[in-house]
Amino acid sequence: SSPRHLMSISDLTPNEFTSLVRNAATRKQAVKAGRAPTSLTTSLTSKTVAMMFSKRSTRTRVSTEAAVTMLGGHPMFLGKDDSQLGVNESLYDTSVVISSMTSCVVARVGPHSSVAGLAKHSSVPVINALSDDFHPLQTIADFLTIHEAFPSSKGSRSGLGLNGLKVAWVGDSNNVLFDLATACVKMGVDISVASPKGYGIPEHMRQLITSAAKGVGSPGKLSETTVPEDAIKDADVLVTDTWISMGQESEKKKRLDAFAGYQITDELAKRGAAKEGWKFMHCLPRHAEEVADEIFYSPRSLVFPEAENRLWAAVSALEGFVVNKGQL
Ligand code: CP
Ligand code: NVA
Repeated sequence: SSPRHLMSISDLTPNEFTSLVRNAATRKQAVKAGRAPTSLTTSLTSKTVAMMFSKRSTRTRVSTEAAVTMLGGHPMFLGKDDSQLGVNESLYDTSVVISSMTSCVVARVGPHSSVAGLAKHSSVPVINALSDDFHPLQTIADFLTIHEAFPSSKGSRSGLGLNGLKVAWVGDSNNVLFDLATACVKMGVDISVASPKGYGIPEHMRQLITSAAKGVGSPGKLSETTVPEDAIKDADVLVTDTWISMGQESEKKKRLDAFAGYQITDELAKRGAAKEGWKFMHCLPRHAEEVADEIFYSPRSLVFPEAENRLWAAVSALEGFVVNKGQL
């Protein structure tokens, strides 16, 4: 039978997503306390994880390599010039060959169809390390970060106990948002998105995000606007990402113009009336245009713990999909 892959958060039930986040938290605490069980540190002994990255990366590369090392395995980094893929060899041939010698493929690609294609032909689990459509490892880390910052939200029933929180996303509707929003819906967290006209959520993505509510007792609600203040109202967490994702460099000027007025600043948060005690998140890398230093480097900012949590998200995903073969 074919292995279970992690392509996007929409692949996961609310319980499965919860258990990935909870396991990340458990592993983080144990390792930090010097209590890493041998079952953790030897779970990938003698195993190789292939990392096929066709785009730059700091966090995803470092967290994945460090996580594989922590589990006792060998991370094999293959940048875009390190394999025959794309130049000399097809996706199908590459996928069959690499998966015949390794225990997992972690892939960062452009079009989502590339990572989906790898998965289709791979005999081992494939984990999406960012495609043009999704960034599931980021979302696991982001929910660990929210879980840590809001440990006892009122009205929580199950899952991560985050029901009733509100996330405001101000900026581009991109890969990071699509998985974050899907997780919000599943976890009962409301998410309000403010993007300029023409940069909103594409219809097929909106359908995917809202369909995450199916079977969820009290799903989070997705709302969309072009007015940042409206999205920010009563938000517990303000989130953004770059306005120019990898691959969009040629649109830089057009995008900088379109996003004028969307920079997250103290002034904007005040005008929008975010909740007192609101926090700021960003997957990084960050540019000053989307968020001012006064917030990015303030005590409200969770960006560095959020980045560190990528390590624990990677540990949890590798345990879930490779060690436990997708039985989450
Ligand atoms: N957040 C994130 O994925 O960062 P990198 O592009 O540096 O991996
Ligand atoms: N949206 C960004 C995320 C980088 C981690 C990009 O795709 O480049």
